[in-house]
Amino acid sequence: MCGIIAYKGEENVVQIIIDGLKHLEYRGYDSSGLCIVSKNKTFLIKKTGKIDNLLEEVEKKQKRNEMTEGEIGIGHSRWATHGAVTEVNAHPHFSCDREIFVVHNGIVENYESLKKELIKKGHRFVSQTDTEVIPHLIEEYRKNNTFVAACEKTFQRLKGLFAIVALDKKTGEIIGTRNGSPLVMGIGEKGLFLASDIPAFLDKTNRVIFLDDGDMVHIINGEEYKIKNLISKKYLKKKINIIDWDKEEAEKGKHPHFMIKEIKEIPEAIKKATWQDKKTLQSVVNLIKKSSGVFFVGCGTAGHSCLFGQYAFSSLLGKRTGFSAASEFKNFLPALDKSALLIAVSQSGETIDTLEAVKKAKEKEIKVVSLVNVMGSTLTRISDYVLMINAGPEKCVLATKSYLSQLAVILLIVFSVLGQEQKGEDRLKKISRELHQLFEDKKFISQIQKLAKQLSSAEHIFTIGRSYDYPTALETALKIKEGCYIHTEAFAGGELKHGVIALIEKGTPCIVHLSKSEEEENTLINAMELQSRGAYIVGIGPEKKKDFDYFITVPEVEEAFSPLVNIAPIHLLSYYIALEKGIDPDKPRNLAKSVTVK
Ligand code: G6P
Repeated sequence: MCGIIAYKGEENVVQIIIDGLKHLEYRGYDSSGLCIVSKNKTFLIKKTGKIDNLLEEVEKKQKRNEMTEGEIGIGHSRWATHGAVTEVNAHPHFSCDREIFVVHNGIVENYESLKKELIKKGHRFVSQTDTEVIPHLIEEYRKNNTFVAACEKTFQRLKGLFAIVALDKKTGEIIGTRNGSPLVMGIGEKGLFLASDIPAFLDKTNRVIFLDDGDMVHIINGEEYKIKNLISKKYLKKKINIIDWDKEEAEKGKHPHFMIKEIKEIPEAIKKATWQDKKTLQSVVNLIKKSSGVFFVGCGTAGHSCLFGQYAFSSLLGKRTGFSAASEFKNFLPALDKSALLIAVSQSGETIDTLEAVKKAKEKEIKVVSLVNVMGSTLTRISDYVLMINAGPEKCVLATKSYLSQLAVILLIVFSVLGQEQKGEDRLKKISRELHQLFEDKKFISQIQKLAKQLSSAEHIFTIGRSYDYPTALETALKIKEGCYIHTEAFAGGELKHGVIALIEKGTPCIVHLSKSEEEENTLINAMELQSRGAYIVGIGPEKKKDFDYFITVPEVEEAFSPLVNIAPIHLLSYYIALEKGIDPDKPRNLAKSVTVK
C-alpha cells in the first residue's frame, strides 16, 4: 500500500526522499509527493503517476532555482483508498497555516466525524482524503500545546489502522507513530529515518529500530530521538537491530526489472530457506506433533503456499489440516481451539488480512507459527514462533522467489516432523542446483520466450494440475493474471469435465502441470480431453510427452518437491509475456505488493 519515508540530518534530503520513494514504489504508485523544509521555507511537490514524474518536477524546480537543498523531508507514494488519484489528494497533506505536513498509510475510520468537528472550528479542507484531518487536528491542538503533545493528542483520537509521520515547519521536529501499519526507524551516521520498510533507507544505514503499535517517535534533530508508547505512556529504550540484507540485493543491478532479477535469485533463495535456526525449527516440530490439527492462512501467492502446506501435511504427515484465505479465516475459527496450531504465511509480514487472522487465533489462545520474509515485520512480532524464509528483499509486485522459499520451508518442516530433516535439506539443495542450471540454459529460456510470444495474444488461458500440481496451477493462473493481464483460470485436473470443458474452443491455450506421480496418467487423460476439443496444450513436467503442442521439460524430482520445479518456468513465462505486451512486470496496474488495508 502507501509508502512513507522521512529524514532529518546532514545529507542531501531531496535525494534521500526521492531514493526512498523509489524503493517504496512497489507499495503503491498512483501518485506521490514530498515536503522539504529548508531554512524556514517549505517546498511541497505532488504528482500523479510514477515517482519519476515527481523526480522530473523536482529537477525542473531545482534547475530554475525554485527549490534549495533542505534539512528535513517527508515523502509518500500513494495507493488511493479515499479520494481519486489527483495531485490534491496526494500526500503530504497540510494544516490551514501550512506549518504542519503529514504523510499517512492506512485508513482513519472516524475521519468524517473529525472533519465535521474541524470544519465547525473553521478549518478549511482541500482534498477528499481521510488523511487531511490529521494535520488539521494537530494544528487545532497545537494552539495550546507543543508539537509533540499536539501529535500525541491527535493520534489518540484516530480510529483505524495507520502509520503516520508529521512534520512541524516551525520547530523542524518529525513525529511518527504506528497502529497496525508498518513503520521502522533507521539510525544513520548522519541522520535519522522513518519509513514503511527497511529498503527505503538501506543504502544509508542497516541499523534499524522496529516500532510496535502505539509507539510514537519524536525526532528532535539528526541524532536525538525519543520513543514513547502511547498505550503504556512510558518512554522506551529500544534495541537497535543490525540488518544483514545486502544493499545490492534491494537494487536491480544489471537487470532491467526486479522480476527477472528475483527469478534468477530463486536457486539461492531455496538454499537460504534451509538455513533455519535448529532450535526454533525443533520447537515448531514439537508444536505440530502435539497439536490436534494445523490450520494455514495466507493471501495471494502466500495462500497458494498454504494450500501446498495443507496437501503436504495431510498426505505426508497424516495430520488433520485446514487452509483458508486469511480474509475468510473467521468462518473456520469456531471449529478451532487452543489444541490447534495456526501457520501464517506472508512475504511482507504486513498483509492486514493475515495479521487479523493471527490476532483472532491468539484471542482463542491458539499458538501461531509464521513463515515470513521481512525481518521485524508486524507478523514476526505477534507470532509465537517465526521461521524466516530468507528470500532477501523482493521488490517486484509479483511474488516469485518468496513463493519457492515458502514451499522450501514448508517441506523442511514436513521432513523434520518425519525425522528426516537432512533428507529434506539435501533434496532442496539439489533442486537449487538444478534450477540454477535451468536458468543458465539458453535453449530453455528461448523456448519460454517463444511460448510467451504465442500466448501474449491469448484472451483466456486454462491451467490444470492434480494433487501437488493443483496449488501450482492456481499460482500459474495468478502469475499470468497479475503480470500479463490475461484471464487465466486454474482447475484440479479432475474438475475439468464438470463444467469448464464447455469453455474450450479451437486454439484455447491450456497449461498442463505434470509430475511423476500416480496421478500423472489421469492428468494426461485430462490433457487429451482438452486437446480433442481443440485446445492448444502446453505441458510442463519432467518427461516430454509426444502428443502435446508445446512441452517444457523440468528436472525430475520427488512428487512433493514438484511444485518448486513446475512453477519456475511460469515465472519466466509471465515475465516474457509482460514484456511482449509492454507491461511493466514490476508494477502491474491496480496492484500493490503489500496490502495493508482491508
Ligand atoms: C498482494 C500481492 C501478492 C501477494 C499477497 C500476499 O496481493 O500482490 O503478490 O501474494 O499480497 O502478500 P504477503 O506479503 O502476505 O505474502
